[in-house]
Amino acid sequence: MNLTLKIWRQKNANDKGKLVDYKINDVSPDMSFLEMLDVLNEQLINKGEDPIAFDHDCREGICGMCSLYINGEAHGPDRGVTTCQLHMRMFKDGDTIFIEPFRATAFPVIKDLIVDRSSFDRIQHAGGFISVNTSGNTIDANAIPVNKHDADNAFEAATCIGCGACVASCKNSSAMLFVGAKVSQFALLPQGKVEATDRVLNMVKQMDEEGFGNCTNTGACEVECPKGISLENIARMNREYLSASLKG
Ligand code: SF4
Ligand code: FES
Repeated sequence: MNLTLKIWRQKNANDKGKLVDYKINDVSPDMSFLEMLDVLNEQLINKGEDPIAFDHDCREGICGMCSLYINGEAHGPDRGVTTCQLHMRMFKDGDTIFIEPFRATAFPVIKDLIVDRSSFDRIQHAGGFISVNTSGNTIDANAIPVNKHDADNAFEAATCIGCGACVASCKNSSAMLFVGAKVSQFALLPQGKVEATDRVLNMVKQMDEEGFGNCTNTGACEVECPKGISLENIARMNREYLSASLKG
């Protein structure tokens, strides 16, 4: 396939940035999207030009590092996959592909296609954990019964990889699907109940301080989420928040 790529280039956080055109030929439909960018970068390096900066790590849909906005969709046109799992067979010969970073005030661009998602880390630090007594009297987690329904829902919430596609897809740049998943994965388990009140209040407070918008029930986040995290998690977080506010 021969393709035209319109790629966002931005030298640093202060640079205005712009779309730059690149031609790439003989792209195999079996290549992953990131492999196609690797080939382009090799060509740029061979010409003495600055390669395109983009985030990636595991390249198997687990780490949540890859974060491209492709043809107006977070993680591109396929469903239930991250950018690293997207293949060039989703495009056709002669296509023009727009490649941009995830855009949100709370995700400032660092360079080209790389954004700073440390706002997610700070939300996690605010409450995305449980404290365990390690004095020697710790109860083995497997010894605490959890009903199957709650265990399954907690597991599904825990599959959120923190990629940020929900934020990038939302017209309000809301992080509520991410935070809802992180709150839910603990709220549903007995181990998470001890700190439940502080957790939801602190995580939502941090989310607001980071500059994420509110949820207006559009549902774009659920559609674009590579892990199929359900809007149910936002509803659960809202219930947890209301109950914690009343207790507080
Ligand atoms: S909820 Fe989905 S889209 Fe949002 S960070 Fe988690 S995995 Fe990514
Ligand atoms: S590089 Fe790890 S999820 Fe894409």
